[in-house]
Amino acid sequence: MAQYDVIIIGSGPGGYVCAIRCAQLGLRTAVVEGRETLGGTCLNVGCIPSKALLHATHSLHEAEHNFAKMGLKGKSPSVDWKQMLAYKDDVIGQNTKGIEFLFKKNKIDWIKGWASIPEVGKVRVGDDTHEARHIVIASGSVSAAVPGAEVEIDEKVVVTSTGALELGSIPKSMVVVGGGVIGLEMGSVYCRLGTEVTVIEYLDAITPGQDAEVARTFQKLLQKQGLKFVTGAAVSKVEVKGGKARVDYKLRKDDSAHDLKADVVLVATGRKPLTEGLGLDALGIKLTPRGQIAVDDRYATNVDGIHAIGDVTPGPMLAHKAEDEGMALAEILAGQAGHVNYDVIPGVIYTHPEVASVGMTEEQLKEEGRAYKVGKFSFMGNGRAKANFAGDGFVKMLADKETDRILGCHVIGPMAGDLIHEVCVAMEFGAAAEDLARTCHAHPTYSEAMREAALACGDGAIHA
Ligand code: NAI
Repeated sequence: MAQYDVIIIGSGPGGYVCAIRCAQLGLRTAVVEGRETLGGTCLNVGCIPSKALLHATHSLHEAEHNFAKMGLKGKSPSVDWKQMLAYKDDVIGQNTKGIEFLFKKNKIDWIKGWASIPEVGKVRVGDDTHEARHIVIASGSVSAAVPGAEVEIDEKVVVTSTGALELGSIPKSMVVVGGGVIGLEMGSVYCRLGTEVTVIEYLDAITPGQDAEVARTFQKLLQKQGLKFVTGAAVSKVEVKGGKARVDYKLRKDDSAHDLKADVVLVATGRKPLTEGLGLDALGIKLTPRGQIAVDDRYATNVDGIHAIGDVTPGPMLAHKAEDEGMALAEILAGQAGHVNYDVIPGVIYTHPEVASVGMTEEQLKEEGRAYKVGKFSFMGNGRAKANFAGDGFVKMLADKETDRILGCHVIGPMAGDLIHEVCVAMEFGAAAEDLARTCHAHPTYSEAMREAALACGDGAIHA
């Protein structure tokens, strides 16, 4: 008999959530993790530490820009960078230790080290080989290189998101390569700290895939905060000389060559699946052309007994997508019916204002030729937002023209990342915009803006 029912490789949000659900469903479970602490990229060098720095620097922004308006006078706080990093590390520690506690509570073994799969049913870690009926690969992703460019990452001057979370000092200038989620979140952090931040984006708009109206508003609001943008530009080279970086780029419209100098360059042009060292080639595990592990709708690879979830598989590289797959797979392995609804996976950018979306964008609906209606509501019409200096932004609800069924929602504004979830629940229940519009929302809350956008899909918003 195998030692374990399930061995999971990787303890990020996909792996650790899968492990906890497996254990709850009575499966003997172990997780292999080579980092010193559990939680993967998300807890150690991703979502959680970046949110700590976003919170700290947003607080600074409030003190500098809004305190005096409310009669809170006095000198703005000065920044103790070392202490800010210590606060961030403390937040990481609390979260990673929390997972360790949950492993103990659920009797999940943590096998420390880096795993490979020598054959079906076996996982090797160092000199030890462990046996399991099921193996789950949840090894996540790493930063990808800039496509077609000469860039060497040293994590000091030319950094990925990992290095950007622990710079030795606050740089005077920073070039961010890539106007996606990481670039804008970390760009915001440093912009608020006084760094001159320029984002270079290959496409003509930031946050590709986002509802175009939201993306345009988002760029304008970030510009107002001091971020600079060069769009439609491909970075071709990043060179470091005497501790400073030079970024060469070409404007796509006329192929003209330009350069920018900066103390730090943050490379944020996407991530790629981490499959190195697992022994997938020898096992004959099929990959997609993009290097992801190919899986079926039960997260099974083409090799019996080996499954994969999260960033290492196709789909959005989001912690919550990985978590949901982890839970679904655990249920499948325990003989239940696990399932993820990929049509209702929210996306959030944790800048200020936040940007959140779920379902289809207006551009996608147009492309499909689907008849739809739009209900929009500005946060300027929301009393709570006005009181909190948070009137920038809007809610955009998209519903089917005939049936009124909600097809998507895009929010730029205060707490957008939390607000979006009432639409997620509504969409899971196949709700109409009218269902949201007829639901009583407490006053005064930001959530009233969601209801107003739903009302705007019908007879009209009240405060517009
Ligand atoms: P991304 O895919 O969000 O954005 C990369 C950007 O780089 C794109 O806009 C792309 O057009 C641009 N780009 C590519 N090559 C370029 C070049 N040569 N010159 C200029 N621009 C170029 O990738 P990002 O921001 O690195 O994030 C990686 C993954 O992590 C994403 O899947 C993201 O969703 C996830 N993530 C999610 C977060 C969240 O949910 N809040 C936070 C951080 C990361």
